[in-house]
Amino acid sequence: MPGKWTPDSWRGLQIRQQPDYPDAAALEVVLDRIRRQPPLVFAGEARRLRSALAGVAEGRAFLLQGGDCAESFAEFSADNIRDTFRVLMQMAVVMTFAAACPIIKVGRLAGQFAKPRSAPTEVQDGVELPSYRGDIVNGMEFTAEARAADPSRLLQGYHQSSATLNLLRAVAHGGYADLRRVHGWNLDFVSRTAQGERYAGFADRITEALSFMEACGITGESVPAVREVDFYTSHEALLLGFEEAMTRVDSTTGDWYDTSAHMLWIGDRTRQEDDAHVEFMRGVSNPIGIKAGPTIAPDELLRLIDILDPAVEPGRLTVIVRMGADKVGERLPPLVRAVRQEGRKVVWSCDPMHGNTVKSANGYKTRMFDRILSEVRQFFDVHIAEGTYAGGVHFEMTGQDVTECLGGAQDITERSLADRYHTHCDPRLNASQALELAFLIADSLKEQRANGQPPIAAEAS
Ligand code: PEP
Ligand code: CO
Repeated sequence: MPGKWTPDSWRGLQIRQQPDYPDAAALEVVLDRIRRQPPLVFAGEARRLRSALAGVAEGRAFLLQGGDCAESFAEFSADNIRDTFRVLMQMAVVMTFAAACPIIKVGRLAGQFAKPRSAPTEVQDGVELPSYRGDIVNGMEFTAEARAADPSRLLQGYHQSSATLNLLRAVAHGGYADLRRVHGWNLDFVSRTAQGERYAGFADRITEALSFMEACGITGESVPAVREVDFYTSHEALLLGFEEAMTRVDSTTGDWYDTSAHMLWIGDRTRQEDDAHVEFMRGVSNPIGIKAGPTIAPDELLRLIDILDPAVEPGRLTVIVRMGADKVGERLPPLVRAVRQEGRKVVWSCDPMHGNTVKSANGYKTRMFDRILSEVRQFFDVHIAEGTYAGGVHFEMTGQDVTECLGGAQDITERSLADRYHTHCDPRLNASQALELAFLIADSLKEQRANGQPPIAAEAS
């Protein structure tokens, strides 16, 4: 039986993947300042996402979650944020239109900075330094100064998240996301590709449907869903000092919310049931996710669900499966069966990125488009076979024209990885690859529906 929860009840428990701050007093000063900053999101917004995700758990909607592996301080710009937003919008529109299913849009944005690492230190030419843990912790450059964990970066991360959210709210509600601009979301470099052309065809059909609706009196002025979207933020809740400092009581309900993002998730490396991350997350009322990699056993997942969603509330918990294309077909069915047999209702989402990372012959951390696609397909196949609902996807992607993942219709080769490899951590899908994947997911979603999986009502998102 877990004891009483408080925002700091995780302190004193075993904790993994935390930076080693050389100056503990300086860290406390910064955390105290963060505690006094305004919330980034409001409890009511997190509740709204939670109820949208309840619709996903019940098979009436689909979750699209995506963005950077790690946001960066140096590449922070309005263009980057807007371009990621618009590719997510394009993906969502393709999926909504093809599958007649509301798509819940959640960015890995406005706070996705901190990274778990496979080793605490890195050795180069005989020199050992702390590993890079994301811009909110230390710098990527391989020098002792850059790699020292610097608490002032937490404040910079907070402020960058705040500015990012400000822009996201503006583009989501200020006219940019108006469906009548659906053609304008095609990025120049994508419009010349096969995906871009296919998208333009979709956009034509949507524009035509909107003209028809307008003639019937359904316009952006009368129906807000035509001119704006709900767009939510999320990140891995890794740095618990920071997350604790952002956790506040909601005056309406008296419940605790982590106001650093609408949704938070627990990473695959920090999901031990008796440890600090699970303890912290069980007490915040946000919708939360938990990554499930190939080492998770069905009974372990059930115990985590018991701890994190004791009241069995659909929308509370999303299980983000990241097995790898060679394992998902074998490892996912026992998990799905165990959860179903216990009468649990979670959102099942597929992260086809983190189980498919490889090193190219020329030394780049990369992922093959075909493996990513294969994991998504198998994820749908398992749910179709088990009679459960494939509820979402989770991607690392960017609106930029990068060359980080191999293959896709553009056929990015090992040699071209060097051209525009910009990621601060894991390789991301570029805009064209992301759109290509959206078309393929739209087909799977249609198939799932045709197969009589939980009925999907075509209602406005
Ligand atoms: C991530 O989502 O960037 C990540 C580190 O994932 P995982 O915890 O699944 O390895
Ligand atoms: Co990653």
